[in-house]
Amino acid sequence: MKAVLATKPGGPEVLQIAEVPDPVPSAEQLLIHVRATALNRADLLQRLGRYPPSPGESDILGLELAGDVVAMGSAVEGFQIGDRIFALVSGGAYAQKAVVDYRMAIPIPEGMSYTEAAAIPEAFFTAHEVLFTCGRLTTGETVLIHAAGSGVGTAAVQMAAHCGAHILATARTTEKLNLARSLGAQDTYCCSDGLFAEWIRHRTEDRGVHLIVDPVGAAYWEANLNSLATQGRLVVFGLLGGRSTAVDLSMILTKRLSIIGTVLRSRSLAEKISLTQEFKARWLPLLARKVLRPVIDSVFPWDRVADAHRYMEANRNLGKIVLVIDDSSQRCEASHSDPT
Ligand SMILES: NC(=O)c1ccc[n+]([C@@H]2O[C@H](COP(=O)([O-])OP(=O)(O)OC[C@H]3O[C@@H](n4cnc5c(N)ncnc54)[C@H](OP(=O)(O)O)[C@@H]3O)[C@@H](O)[C@H]2O)c1
Repeated sequence: MKAVLATKPGGPEVLQIAEVPDPVPSAEQLLIHVRATALNRADLLQRLGRYPPSPGESDILGLELAGDVVAMGSAVEGFQIGDRIFALVSGGAYAQKAVVDYRMAIPIPEGMSYTEAAAIPEAFFTAHEVLFTCGRLTTGETVLIHAAGSGVGTAAVQMAAHCGAHILATARTTEKLNLARSLGAQDTYCCSDGLFAEWIRHRTEDRGVHLIVDPVGAAYWEANLNSLATQGRLVVFGLLGGRSTAVDLSMILTKRLSIIGTVLRSRSLAEKISLTQEFKARWLPLLARKVLRPVIDSVFPWDRVADAHRYMEANRNLGKIVLVIDDSSQRCEASHSDPT
């Protein structure tokens, strides 16, 4: 089969499509003919050599996929050859074939394309984790969602709105703020200066918000603490704005705050299976009925994977960037919007 390989750590130019051995499914795994995958920030870091895969996992990039079952191990239950599935994976999705534990595979609902399905797992699993598992968001609470026009942000705004939360959202472009409002945010702030605490104080009449979900980290730390209500929760799930900052612990004590960090990729298989089951029960029916939707910015053929990485690095995407995997040596003819 062919796969995208990072020939050495470096910029997008190191990504090359090359011939590699087919993966072999274990007893509990499905072999998937991959039709589409989607980009994640982790892919950019892995390409740069800063985020190696966990031991025993594929060193091919790609953390989510949609495709068809073409073979399976002896212990697999509930799937047949030809089934259309999508899944979160621990690597290996930038390839014509990949393996996935059958308990992580989710049937693609009727009427949903491979492109749409591939754009769901990382964004919706992460948003569920940060809002509900870590963040314990409940109806009527106020949540502040940063980078609301991102892949995770667009899922989080929809899920928080569905739960009946009051949503305040930040992003750094007008287009992303408009998108967040169209998905359910009640109010938005253009955060190019990082000074959102005064806006929050004003919008909440000095009370602060119950929950903040934050992929920015250091650059927003102080304003985040200033923006939380008494007993508020801050869930940090990305470090786009840096990993270290000076910490004044006094506000954590006086406001009795909870600071929670989370990451999906290094979780055990058992934890990921459990997360998949929670997603299937709570969110899949809503996605199947199109009450919620993956927001897709653009679809690139996989021979333009380097351009797709450059596009994400430039923060240009509103929602997800999907890669269509070509299963022949010909250039992919699937319809796509070309944003460049
Ligand atoms: N912990 C986990 O399990 C987990 C899982 C998935 C993703 N993540 C992390 O979550 C973050 C978002 O992922 P994603 O897939 O949603 O990303 P994405 O779609 O690529 O969007 C990220 C957006 O963040 C904003 N941004 C970038 N740098 C920023 C900075 N320094 N300060 C403020 N905003 C900044 C940009 O939007 P603006 O134009 O609005 O600035 C950018 O478009 C990433 O850090 C990713 O690694 C974590």
